[in-house]
Amino acid sequence: MQQQEGTTDRMQKLVSLCKRRGFVFPSSEIYGGVRSGYDYGPLGVELKRNLMSAWWRDMVHSRENVVGLDASIIMHPRVWEASGHLAGFADPLVDCLICKERFRADKAPKLEPGLAAPVTLGDKERARVAQEALAAKGIVVERQGKTLTGLTGDERGYCCPNCGSPLLSAERPFNLMLRSSLGPVDQIARIAQLLEAQETMPRGAELRALLDGAIKESAVYLRPETAQGMFVQFLNVLQTTAQKVPFGIAQMGKSFRNEITVEHFIFRSYEFEQMEMEFFCEPGTDDQWLTYWTEQRMSWWRRLANHPENFRLRAHEPAELAHYAKACYDVEFLYPWGWGELEGVANRTDYDLKKHSQVSGTNLTYFDQQAVDPETGKQGRRFTPYVIEPAAGATRGMLAFLLDAYHEEAVPDAKGEDALRVVLKLHPTLAPIKAAVLPLVKKDGMPEKARELVHQLFDTGINSTYDEQHAIGKRYRRHDEAGTPFCITVDGQTLQDGTVTVRDRDTMQQERVPSAEVVALVGERIR
Ligand code: GAP
Repeated sequence: MQQQEGTTDRMQKLVSLCKRRGFVFPSSEIYGGVRSGYDYGPLGVELKRNLMSAWWRDMVHSRENVVGLDASIIMHPRVWEASGHLAGFADPLVDCLICKERFRADKAPKLEPGLAAPVTLGDKERARVAQEALAAKGIVVERQGKTLTGLTGDERGYCCPNCGSPLLSAERPFNLMLRSSLGPVDQIARIAQLLEAQETMPRGAELRALLDGAIKESAVYLRPETAQGMFVQFLNVLQTTAQKVPFGIAQMGKSFRNEITVEHFIFRSYEFEQMEMEFFCEPGTDDQWLTYWTEQRMSWWRRLANHPENFRLRAHEPAELAHYAKACYDVEFLYPWGWGELEGVANRTDYDLKKHSQVSGTNLTYFDQQAVDPETGKQGRRFTPYVIEPAAGATRGMLAFLLDAYHEEAVPDAKGEDALRVVLKLHPTLAPIKAAVLPLVKKDGMPEKARELVHQLFDTGINSTYDEQHAIGKRYRRHDEAGTPFCITVDGQTLQDGTVTVRDRDTMQQERVPSAEVVALVGERIR
């Protein structure tokens, strides 16, 4: 299967194509970059927008019972108190006592408990220093080059992902919320003032509590999920639309998490985009709606893919479930490093609406006049809706579709020898540019005719480009790598009989069609 050929190799090739063709650039590259920061270039921004628009079209514009929302990224801090994020949105953080790497315990490489693990450091000198430091603590290890042997793992059963050491600190929860402060408050001055007012300098937990208190006074948080916007606007949406339960509120946009481990290019980063929908339903109907939405979401991913078999559903084990969830399915994709999450579809029960009712003091229940109250048997039922939440990653989805589309093949070049062709077989809905219009040469009226055609495509809303740079073969290859489904070439014959060639990206077949028909043809094929 193509997706599994040369795993890390495949990822490196994709990252390099993303840079070379302008899909994804390292953020602030001229200043050395920002860890896990990425900018979406001219092709990347189109691909991301197309992916998100396809989601919006499917989730909002194709349904009577789903409406949209665009909530603030910075919300009232009590939202995060009610949602449980301030107290519990944390991953287990561990320090390696040898190489000082900080990592997530639950994502660390597994180790047989008690097994002696070889530890590999960057160079011999580091290994020597580590050996001496361990000896000073009474731990004797063997050293060969930059590798130490003889260390024994503990009952935790994992080791450092950087050097392989099982000598680790205790696990401690690390909150993933990105904190900032709002308003003209000088936090340092406030802290200095507080400390100066103390008779004796507090230490340890007391000092921490004092500083925490001072910071929290003006603290705000960048949202770690878009979901909470939909819960806190539940009443406003209900009152301003004709919606009745069951109905959904959808939102797409940026979320931020201070992840301990950022990894695999745009798979896990600090700043990313989500596409989430909260579907409010009557308690008792939640299991059916969970099945419905899982199927809907799974078929959406598969519809846009070349290899639908690389998308699968996985039910969460009870121990994996988030504190608010009764059940959850992950839509997973087969990344080059194995199956991994793309979207979670969770039954969040009435947890969120009840918590926000309790903390805000606003009644977030729903009265259904048509329903019969199961307790009293009378007409009319008041209840807190249950929520089914399909929560997808847009930037992660973009990575999945790029990997799904990446294809290499050998094709004969001008001399008849095999040459490598790299093509992004992106679904036309996702392709950043739908058609490239190419004059064969930059003379004889061909550029003028090509420009005329590209403007006709612009006028119909088909994102297209005019391209006259380099030889025609090179231009075709460039557009193969950009995932452009159609290249329209204006040549000598165009000027005689008004026909152009249309080249299909995947088959490389060319057909000759009247230029007057080409816009309609491309429009039909991309739809
Ligand atoms: N409201 C529920 C929620 O946020 P989640 O599983 O934490 O659930 C949903 O996030 C999706 O958001 C994930 O399936 C993933 O695609 C994406 N996502 C989460 N954290 C991410 C990160 N650090 N970088 C990129 N995408 C991320």
